[in-house]
Amino acid sequence: MLTIALSKGRILDDTLPLLAAAGIVPTENPDKSRKLIIPTTLDDVRLLIVRATDVPTYVEHGAADLGVAGKDVLMEYGGQGLYEPLDLRIAQCKLMTAGAVGAPEPKGRLRVATKFVNVAKRYYAEQGRQVDIIKLYGSMELAPLVGLADKIIDVVDTGNTLRANGLEAQELIATISSRLVVNKASMKMQHARIQLLIDTLRDAVEARHPR
Ligand code: ATP
Ligand code: PRP
Repeated sequence: MLTIALSKGRILDDTLPLLAAAGIVPTENPDKSRKLIIPTTLDDVRLLIVRATDVPTYVEHGAADLGVAGKDVLMEYGGQGLYEPLDLRIAQCKLMTAGAVGAPEPKGRLRVATKFVNVAKRYYAEQGRQVDIIKLYGSMELAPLVGLADKIIDVVDTGNTLRANGLEAQELIATISSRLVVNKASMKMQHARIQLLIDTLRDAVEARHPR
């Protein structure tokens, strides 16, 4: 049995056509179903529906053999516990710092609100900048508007969310897309099966999102 961990929403929507190219189609609509384990048209492949940030955990611990996760999530998760054999070129965005339009750089310690605490610590440590990181779980854009933080670190695509809240993107931390991740033991134990799936997905990625 191959178990693939995915999150609902854009990752699921953008991954399903790639899986379909490998003959893997869920037997019920994961967006509608309340089930968290979804069988597929292949008897030996099933999908797990998990939170986006939980995908690396399921895969590293072997509860799923494979998964799809944003590079932002993988950067935040850290460690060397996963193989990352394929850029699926889906859910493309940028991880950026942002602040209020025209706001001056604060003189003292910078206060940065984000859900990417580890990424933020690493980013400012590399710059030798003293910062206070404030952990949030969502709606980061609010923090500078109400004086909770000077800046945020979040993903930006169109920039509409920032603009709607009077913020502007500032520094680019990383360009982001979603990656196929593989459990290390699974890669050894089921090498031929998983390598075939990776090769098929790579062809599907090239066909759908040519460079
Ligand atoms: P959770 O539900 O655990 O809080 P999430 O809300 O970040 O996670 P999604 O919004 O589905 O989950 O995002 C999944 C991935 O898609 C992110 O990790 C990121 O890589 C990418 N992403 C997020 N926002 C955008 C966007 N506006 N445009 C393109 N890609 C995005
Ligand atoms: C994501 C992210 C940003 C927004 C950026 O939120 O958290 O707020 O997209 O995209 P933009 O630059 O095109 O506005 P999403 O829409 O996924 O909602 P979420 O906060 O529920 O994840």
